[in-house]
Amino acid sequence: MRTYAITGGTDGIGRALGRLLLARGDRVIAVGSGAAKGAAFLADAADLGAAQRAHFLRADLSTVAGMRRAAEGVAQATDSLDAAVFGAQRFQTARAQTADGLEFTFALAYLSRAVLGEGLLPLLERAERPVIANLAGPGGLPGTIAWDDLQLRRRYSGRRAAMQGSRCNDLLGADFPARHPGARTRYVLYNPGFVRTAMADPLPPPARAATKALALVLAQPAAAAAARVRELLDDPPPEPAAAFFRRRRVPMTGPDFDPAAAARLRAVTAGILAGAARRA
Ligand SMILES: NC(=O)c1ccc[n+]([C@@H]2O[C@H](COP(=O)([O-])OP(=O)(O)OC[C@H]3O[C@@H](n4cnc5c(N)ncnc54)[C@H](OP(=O)(O)O)[C@@H]3O)[C@@H](O)[C@H]2O)c1
Repeated sequence: MRTYAITGGTDGIGRALGRLLLARGDRVIAVGSGAAKGAAFLADAADLGAAQRAHFLRADLSTVAGMRRAAEGVAQATDSLDAAVFGAQRFQTARAQTADGLEFTFALAYLSRAVLGEGLLPLLERAERPVIANLAGPGGLPGTIAWDDLQLRRRYSGRRAAMQGSRCNDLLGADFPARHPGARTRYVLYNPGFVRTAMADPLPPPARAATKALALVLAQPAAAAAARVRELLDDPPPEPAAAFFRRRRVPMTGPDFDPAAAARLRAVTAGILAGAARRA
């Protein structure tokens, strides 16, 4: 029996993946911020006859304290981890600031993955063939990192924040081999393309209706995206880090994966986390 931790494991692709893994006899620790979605995940698991193998960990991954609590909660639940899958997200149409003074999307979509990736690595390294799967946007829509305004105080849009989060995750993945030379864990960045999920729920009504209508025609079901993630968990590429857009391999070259930018983000991230630790 393998053990998987999935952030955002209570909805969308994460939930569909959890269902696939539970159905084949594995153990799943789903992390999410809402009690109702957590209860639905557990009820689903019970229907599959997997109640004993399903765990819900409630944590707000937009706060550094919540990220740390989640890492501790996973460590309390298991001695070793076959994969950590990062899929927690919530689109923010208006700029929101977290308790740590960070822009919400930067914190949830990027920083939580940086913190949990490091925090869970000792558990992962104990598994036979461990994988970190970061569900983000490599090779997809363009976006840039606002190095001089990382918290997007001056020029915010939800799309800009989401795209910046994707670029930060590209660099996080590209930097993994430099941070952890010789690690057994494989880092996989995966862009599922357009998927029918709760992603559009936070949009204002007209945009929500339009996105949901488009999704009916153009998007793949969450279960199909989850099946691809499961393949990547079962059979990761041999390289320490790899990126995919759906089935297509994305070369980890060019500005999105630039080693100097990755090192810069690593340093900035360390500074942010040191500041949060001082305030705690
Ligand atoms: N859907 C797409 O078309 C698409 C395209 C490209 C990439 N992706 C990526 O794929 C991943 C999964 O996307 P999805 O569309 O399946 O997501 P989704 O259906 O919107 O589900 C998001 C999950 O994140 C959790 N979450 C939200 N805020 C949280 C918080 N503060 N703390 C902890 N958990 C939180 C949600 O649970 P609670 O609300 O209960 O917290 C839920 O389980 C994301 O990383 C996304 O960027 C998706």
